[in-house]
Amino acid sequence: MSWFNLFGKDLISIKDWTKDELDIVLRVTDQIKGRYYSGASTPHLNYKTFLMLFFNTSTRTRQSFETAMTQLGGHSQFIEAATMRISLEKKPGAGETIADTAKVMDRYCDGIGIRLLEDKVSAYGEGTKILYEFARHTKAPVINMASDVYHPCQALTDLYTMQEKVGDLRGKKLAITWAYSPWVRSWGSIQSTAMIAARYGMEVVLAHPQGYDLDPDVRALTGEYARQAGGSFTITHEMERAVDGATVVYPRGWMSPQRYEIGKEAEIEMAGKYKDWIYTAEKQQKYGLPGYFLHCMPIDRGHEADDEVCDNSLSLVYDQAENRLHVQKAILALTMRGRL
Ligand code: CP
Repeated sequence: MSWFNLFGKDLISIKDWTKDELDIVLRVTDQIKGRYYSGASTPHLNYKTFLMLFFNTSTRTRQSFETAMTQLGGHSQFIEAATMRISLEKKPGAGETIADTAKVMDRYCDGIGIRLLEDKVSAYGEGTKILYEFARHTKAPVINMASDVYHPCQALTDLYTMQEKVGDLRGKKLAITWAYSPWVRSWGSIQSTAMIAARYGMEVVLAHPQGYDLDPDVRALTGEYARQAGGSFTITHEMERAVDGATVVYPRGWMSPQRYEIGKEAEIEMAGKYKDWIYTAEKQQKYGLPGYFLHCMPIDRGHEADDEVCDNSLSLVYDQAENRLHVQKAILALTMRGRL
């Protein structure tokens, strides 16, 4: 397979990319990060434009993609969906359709990024369906900048960061554990990272209180990836069992499958019953060594993890945040040009 095969390819979920294709992103990230630290330029996307359509807020994704395009010699446009003519409601009078919006954006750019999740959708999966709908109407690649089901750029970054720190990930234990937070976030980051870690042969252990199951299709696929790669995927309802002996621990809150039926307030109240689901330095010492701390950020400090875990030498979170930049440069160069 050639790198050029990635030219024009959408990245909405890592399940749509082969393992060879994901490997290429990791290899190109190494090259691009090396050039960054050697002071060499990376003008692979001169005169190219990446349009970034945000329905939700962001710190890392917006800034890392904007900086990525600058470092690649191109330009990115930050667009708040509320400033557009688009409506996600499909009825006359609501606003411009997704198809018309996508076809017009396609005439202006070489790549399109979209973020759509949490309170901006009314049912699980709706955001991701809209990304696929966009992609049906564009030649330019559509890059998922976080949806309600997937966050592929985060997953590739998490994998890259763990490889940087640990080396070969096969047989290494990754504990992904639910942690209390009233922020009630979507499942995209957790689901994508579980899938990619299983695909690269890690022993993935998912922990959560009863009632916080992930998408059954994602669970099935994660199990299948683990079988193919010689790793494993297990689920427990005890945080301590998950983190015991883990090489990497990823504690994060996520919404229950009832979120869109019961409403946000009821969801926050339900999560409040599990405030002891916090990853602390005490647990890290007792169960998790090395227990590297992984988190996509933002971290709900004092709820998901204590300050010591966030700030001690086992924390990977700032390297992880930086790696979004380098991984995304690789994704943009490969999908918007097909070569370096
Ligand atoms: N991890 C992540 O996507 O961060 P932002 O929500 O700040 O973009």
